Amino acid sequence: MLILGIESTCDETGAAVVADGMRVLSNVIASQVDLHARYRGVVPEIASRAHIENILPVVVEALKSAGIELENLEAVAVAHRPGLIGSLLIGVTAAKTLAWAVGKPLVGVDHVHAHLYSVRLETAASPPMPAVGLVCSGGHTALYRIGDFLDVEMIGSTLDDAVGEAYDKVAGILGLGYPGGPTIDRLAREGNPKAVRFPRSQMSRQSLDFSFSGLKTSVLYHVRGYQGREHEARKLSEAEIRDISASFQAACVDVLVEKIRRATRQTGARSVIIGGGVSANSGLRAAMSKFPLPVFFPKLEYCSDNAAMTAGLADILLAAGRTSPLDLDAIPHSQFSHATN
Ligand code: KG4
Ligand code: ZN
Repeated sequence: MLILGIESTCDETGAAVVADGMRVLSNVIASQVDLHARYRGVVPEIASRAHIENILPVVVEALKSAGIELENLEAVAVAHRPGLIGSLLIGVTAAKTLAWAVGKPLVGVDHVHAHLYSVRLETAASPPMPAVGLVCSGGHTALYRIGDFLDVEMIGSTLDDAVGEAYDKVAGILGLGYPGGPTIDRLAREGNPKAVRFPRSQMSRQSLDFSFSGLKTSVLYHVRGYQGREHEARKLSEAEIRDISASFQAACVDVLVEKIRRATRQTGARSVIIGGGVSANSGLRAAMSKFPLPVFFPKLEYCSDNAAMTAGLADILLAAGRTSPLDLDAIPHSQFSHATN
């Protein structure tokens, strides 16, 4: 079963062809990082304009490198939620038009759901269920109880910043480039994680929710000083930047691991699934390698936003008869979050 997936939720334009939900025949991504780097974050209007320019070439390239024609497809899948509304609309419009033109079913996919599914791509490993899922990215940090990939329930989420967002903001404070996650991860490996004791916000004893804004502010105060005794990040030595990166990363990883531990205890989970951009993090991967349950991470190329995970998840949605009408909407929030988020 061949499915074309389309991804345009944030700042990557992606298209992929996936066979039988797991075999990735092509996975094309047009990154907009260069366009947004000078603003140190994604500018929604710039993102949607870039999606318009990229979407058709990316789809054509995905079909071409998979060596298939539109007629060979079983369905067209699109991440239609959650994301930036202007960005989502481009992918949704392209997917609807293609599905209608070739007379194939349209499958709307929740991007967060697809991040959880990404651990199934290009691997024979199948996580024992029920599982606890963590999606940690620039836009999301949330925990899920997964009965199977069609039975997913959110059990905790961040009350403020996403963990990837904290990485990007701390990178800004340290005068590092955007996006900050990969750079901080690299520097952290050479620094001392015990150099600075940053706070680990665990909320109440049983809570599965997260808060990363206090940690970010704590790094800001540590770097710039309190009560006007400000000094700029550029005055930090390279060794200090490495130590702050390592100490910040240790705080993030401690919180994520502790919340996963709580969630597995509370749900009786048999395994752990971790997806999203921050699932590429080497500190998180090292810490979870000691976890008492089997832990499933995506291959590195499927951690950050991509369309292969969209097409892969669509395979099981399609098999369950969950196709979408051609008036499918682009929706800013996830199907698992509260409508007000
Ligand atoms: O999943 P993703 O591509 O987009 C969203 O759905 O948000 O995640 C991007 C986020 C960015 O905040 C980036 O800094 C972070 O993932 N990231 C990392 C690493 N690689 C990417 N954070 C920590 N360590 C990494 N190695
Ligand atoms: Zn994402």
